[in-house]
Amino acid sequence: MCGIVAYLGGRPAASVVMEGLRRVAYRGYDSAGVAVASEAGAPLEWLKRAGKISVLEEALERTPLAGYLALGHTRWATHGRPDDVNAHPHVSEDGRLALVHNGIIENYLPLRERLRASGHHFRSQTDSEVVLHLIEEAFQGDLAAALRAALAQVRGSYAVVVAHTDSAEVVAARHTSPLVVGHGDGEQWLASDVTALLPFTRHVTHLQDGDVVVLGRGGVRLTDLQGREVERPRELVDWDAETAEKDGYEHFMLKEIAEQPSVVRRALAGRITDDASDAELGLSLEPHAIDRVIVTAAGTASYAGGVGAALIESLARVPASVEVASEMRYRDPVIDARTLVIAVSQSGETVDTLAATREARRRGARTLAVLNVKGSTLSREVDDVLYLRAGPEVGVASTKAYMAMLTVLTLLAIRMGRATGSLDDTLAKRLLDGLVALPQALESALASRERIRDLAPHLAGARSALYLGRGVNVSTAFEGALKLKEISYVHAEAYPMGEMKHGPIALIEPDVPVVAIATDAERYDKTTSSLQELRARDGFVIAIASEGDDEIEAHASEVVFVPRVDELLSPMVNVVPLQLLAYESAVALGRDVDQPRNLAKSVTVE
Ligand code: F6R
Repeated sequence: MCGIVAYLGGRPAASVVMEGLRRVAYRGYDSAGVAVASEAGAPLEWLKRAGKISVLEEALERTPLAGYLALGHTRWATHGRPDDVNAHPHVSEDGRLALVHNGIIENYLPLRERLRASGHHFRSQTDSEVVLHLIEEAFQGDLAAALRAALAQVRGSYAVVVAHTDSAEVVAARHTSPLVVGHGDGEQWLASDVTALLPFTRHVTHLQDGDVVVLGRGGVRLTDLQGREVERPRELVDWDAETAEKDGYEHFMLKEIAEQPSVVRRALAGRITDDASDAELGLSLEPHAIDRVIVTAAGTASYAGGVGAALIESLARVPASVEVASEMRYRDPVIDARTLVIAVSQSGETVDTLAATREARRRGARTLAVLNVKGSTLSREVDDVLYLRAGPEVGVASTKAYMAMLTVLTLLAIRMGRATGSLDDTLAKRLLDGLVALPQALESALASRERIRDLAPHLAGARSALYLGRGVNVSTAFEGALKLKEISYVHAEAYPMGEMKHGPIALIEPDVPVVAIATDAERYDKTTSSLQELRARDGFVIAIASEGDDEIEAHASEVVFVPRVDELLSPMVNVVPLQLLAYESAVALGRDVDQPRNLAKSVTVE
């Protein structure tokens, strides 16, 4: 949450930083700002504006800022309303020191009181501004030393970047919130995510907690909080800049939904044995050393985890459950060395998921991350990583990463089933063949967009909506409801279908549409009975059903057909119409699909 970009070098620094900020705007978009140094010794110039980055861009067109060094920030407010004053950078009264911060300074109140008593004047309501004053207080010509002295007094999380007109350097530090250095020839960058750096460089260093970095004319210098030199590897990012472009699509979300067939292909590549009877994941799984699997994650990733846990339990016959990370981290769970904890995350920076995984490690669990972003914090804190290979996901509402999570978790469940011996050759082959054929099924599911556009007004005009599913598709229902809520702001709830009659059925009215996943052939009769119970109460039912199902129309008001696939793989196909329903409803309501209100991608604060 909150995007940071900084630059030092020969290009027009403000433009470079603005280009980077546009690419990390998904981290927060309630206000933005940039501070620029034109030459050593001259006061800084800065602009900050409430609202999206476009508001700042317009202001910069009227008042261009020129310089060789710039710090930029796009904010997701924690302390203090999103307005011009609370926007970052925070700049000292003499205009010589500027700071941007991502994270939360937990002890900011006593620090602010002390600083006020010693004459510091605070302009914003933010927690971040105390760090500016602490640095100002400690600064005696060495900016890195002043930053270290300031950080020794704070408690909380930070990625903090500062510049002082006396030092011709950009100095930064991280604890919990991510920060990446971009290396160029005589130029350097800092950013919250590599996505911001893609147009400029693919040579990066991921900072670790406790690192302090100085970008200067002589290059990059890395130390710890005590000033001791540290070494971090330089890595080459294999994403290219184009994958983070809209490519002619109206929204990133739509582009990312459309990309899903190729996302599945990439997630599968090289991960199936030649005889298609097992998954090859390069993991040393000793299944007999595992008594239990806990999948932990947040939001959409937790719904992918729900599908994953169901598949692992079903195919490997190992007890498996999903736990929302924000609860697991505080719940005193029963975890030991015979527990495999699988952390699922697009960003690898979600603070709850990181904390739950650390807690699991502390209790001796073996940990595995199913993860998209290479070099992210999570990747360094687990025993094994399975990468999603989904490429950069820009839409705040996750779609293609969810699809890649389902693909990788299905492979993992198959591998575990083979390793425990509970998954026979025939079913393994059937599932793996099904996975290989899945991109084609997804293409057909995507072709339902026209049909869904016609149905979207039912959801866009709804007071509330209910999403129902059974078995592995209970999680699909939760994911569908979340997608609708977060981008269209229409209230939605999800339930296991059989739970309807235990309460939620009281909500049924014509303006509370029900989206029901009806692809489970084995429990088909149970599903149609549930739909009849809804119809008998004037419920408006949109069924997601398998192609060739001639009966379903008698049980639903509207039907969206998807290709028939193995039920264990059906969450991957069934989620596509739900993503499109949310998308088309949000578009019909005129919502900002890629940057929905109050949200931000990569939740790095509690
Ligand atoms: C919803 C969404 C969020 C994330 C959640 C976890 O569309 O994107 O619910 O899934 O914040 O994020 P990651 O996967 O980065 O850990």
